[in-house]
Amino acid sequence: MERISLPVPIGALQELALAAFRCCGLNEADAEAAAEVLVTTDAWGVYTHGTKSLRGYARRLRGGGLRADGRPQIVRQGPAWAVIDGDSSVGMVTARFAMRTAMDKARACGLGFTTVRNSCHFGAAGFYAWMAAREGMVGQAMANDTASVTAPGSRGPVLGSNPFAFAAPAGEEAPILLDISTAAVAGGKVRIAAAFGQPIPPTWLVDLQGAPTLDPHLYPHAASLTPMAGHKGYGLALMIETLSGLLSGARLTQAIGSWIDSDPALPTDHGHAFLALDVGAFFPLDQYRQRMDELIRQIRSAPKAQGQERIWLPGEKEWEAQAQARVHGIPLPADVRESLSGLIGDLGLARPDWL
Ligand SMILES: NC(=O)c1ccc[n+]([C@@H]2O[C@H](COP(=O)([O-])OP(=O)(O)OC[C@H]3O[C@@H](n4cnc5c(N)ncnc54)[C@H](O)[C@@H]3O)[C@@H](O)[C@H]2O)c1
Repeated sequence: MERISLPVPIGALQELALAAFRCCGLNEADAEAAAEVLVTTDAWGVYTHGTKSLRGYARRLRGGGLRADGRPQIVRQGPAWAVIDGDSSVGMVTARFAMRTAMDKARACGLGFTTVRNSCHFGAAGFYAWMAAREGMVGQAMANDTASVTAPGSRGPVLGSNPFAFAAPAGEEAPILLDISTAAVAGGKVRIAAAFGQPIPPTWLVDLQGAPTLDPHLYPHAASLTPMAGHKGYGLALMIETLSGLLSGARLTQAIGSWIDSDPALPTDHGHAFLALDVGAFFPLDQYRQRMDELIRQIRSAPKAQGQERIWLPGEKEWEAQAQARVHGIPLPADVRESLSGLIGDLGLARPDWL
């Protein structure tokens, strides 16, 4: 009889993620911080970048390319900016430290910018931008990644799928949260299509000749992602590479280790960048909140296109998924469950009854 998978309570998934990070040697604070990023991402319904990635991070922690005892540190700074060395600690730990540093500086100076080297994949960029929005700040989070995306006219990849997130607080309304890769689609979605035999649109991938392909199995070795919106996504990815990789001194494009496929004994040296703007320094916060609510409501109530019932604000789908998850649990898809099963096998953890 086929086993029906019930949604997993948020706390239960957090316990498993915590157990995995502890088992890999992280201290309690780092394990909690990293687990919370991944579980929140799943609660938002962004399953490509939540606990599914844990198995890859654990492999690299055990291989030595990630350091359980790594300590991100500020290596240069001014009143409103800092350069941070991640010390090869877990990407989520380093990214939280770097966004917290940007927010502290924004509290003092109105804005704070941090750039990070010697990090690894940090998961969903949105978590870090949301950290700022929760404290009355506008936040941006960015990262470079190993090259997987073409430029218009190129035959192979020139830049990573460099994610970008923007979050802005509101008043009675939920914050705005835009969290996207700068590729036509995040590479994780192509991997899922390949694993489940799902069709992909002709706009996602090009083959080694630069021609569109419908075969997700070719990615990443014999096909590349296309940039989001052609030259516009390509230009944004280049901006992110500049802020995350060049300003920090991190590796760039092809030189960055793939956090999934490269030798787990080696650091990947990803770069990140974080910006925090303290709204109250620019404009009275209560008036800003009221105006943002008005803007959101104006957009939401705009006339709908034929056949459409709703205009979404960036982040609304995630907030609705999170509200459902808090009540009913997270409906983890089969590929995430499979990855978690592999993780507990790798680490020799007790299998939770929900898996
Ligand atoms: N760490 C990395 O190297 C890396 C690389 C690439 C992507 N990512 C992550 O992958 C995730 C998915 O990226 P993606 O490009 O597939 O995202 P996506 O195309 O699914 O877009 C998601 C964003 O679009 C918003 N959105 C969706 N439908 C909308 C609508 N109708 N109207 C308004 N807003 C809408 C969502 O609220 C969300 O902010 C992100 O969390 C990103 O940070 C990480």
